[in-house]
Amino acid sequence: MLAKLQTLEQNSLVQISVLTSEASLIDLRNAILGKNGSLTELLKGVKDLSDEDKKTIGKAINECKIRMTAAFEAQLAVIKNRLIADRLANEFEDVTTPVSEDTGNHLHPITRTLMKVEDSFKRMGFDCYESNEVTTEYWNFDSLNIPKTHPARDMQDTFWLEGTGNVLATQTSSMQNIIMKSKGAPIKAIISGRVFRNEDIDATHENTFYQVEGMVIDRDITLANLKYTLRTMLSDIFGREVSIRMRPGYFPFVEPGVEVDFSCPFCSGTGCKICKKSGWIEFMGAGLIHPNVLREWGIDPDEYTGFAFGFGLNRLVMIEYSIPDMRYFQNPNLAFLKQF
Ligand code: PHE
Repeated sequence: MLAKLQTLEQNSLVQISVLTSEASLIDLRNAILGKNGSLTELLKGVKDLSDEDKKTIGKAINECKIRMTAAFEAQLAVIKNRLIADRLANEFEDVTTPVSEDTGNHLHPITRTLMKVEDSFKRMGFDCYESNEVTTEYWNFDSLNIPKTHPARDMQDTFWLEGTGNVLATQTSSMQNIIMKSKGAPIKAIISGRVFRNEDIDATHENTFYQVEGMVIDRDITLANLKYTLRTMLSDIFGREVSIRMRPGYFPFVEPGVEVDFSCPFCSGTGCKICKKSGWIEFMGAGLIHPNVLREWGIDPDEYTGFAFGFGLNRLVMIEYSIPDMRYFQNPNLAFLKQF
């Protein structure tokens, strides 16, 4: 029996040492050390031996089992290390390889224009923030001087999140009080992000679009500061001087409120297709921040005044690139994107 054991051990050790996959190693282990494995079978035979033999042979088999188990484990480690070494050799990526200049990839036009808009405002001393997409009824409406029963709530068809008191932000103005609360006055802030409205979709209306909000609070701020700021930014974007025109407008969180148009940068005001022959492009809502809104965050309206404005970024990009339909922005159509 001892001779049988020796042969089994020698053969098994050779077999183990040539295996290269984890699965075949496990198969072999079962065939030797498993319930009906060859070594286990030898062990079963021990009970029929004399007491003397039981001792010596039983001990020999157990020692053999320990050596074989160690051999299996050692070979498993060899296989695993070889796998890691293979992966390191084959999957190596040289992150220092210079990137080809022309990858064919580029930023989305909305991102690109937003970066230009933010750059322009940063040069004027503004800090830039991102807008929250989910907000509360309080930030979106109440804190902006639009109480529950106010008809102005109907100006923006809202996506209400059931049972939570939360809404999908309908306007970046929903960030005004959040910024005021955390930064205090004086402040110069630009806030951009996606807003959502339950709109009927057509070429100029989307349920999801980007807005850029501006907010300045300081001593002696007037509509003249608003006009200068907007003229500077728009002239930067279009690379030529534009003028600003203001008409009365109504937004509950500003007083006075204005609608802002800018002179058509394509025909310099003489009338073309883009400005629908009017020489002016209707662009945004703005105004001086309502005293109630300032008071909401403990800013004294007798000490500070401020202006705020909000415009649709999609619309600016559409004007910039003569894009005829707002629905292109939400549509992952490469033919559209590749033009930029
Ligand atoms: N939040 C307004 C809108 O979405 C725009 C606006 C912003 C008007 C700031 C006045 C001041 O229509």
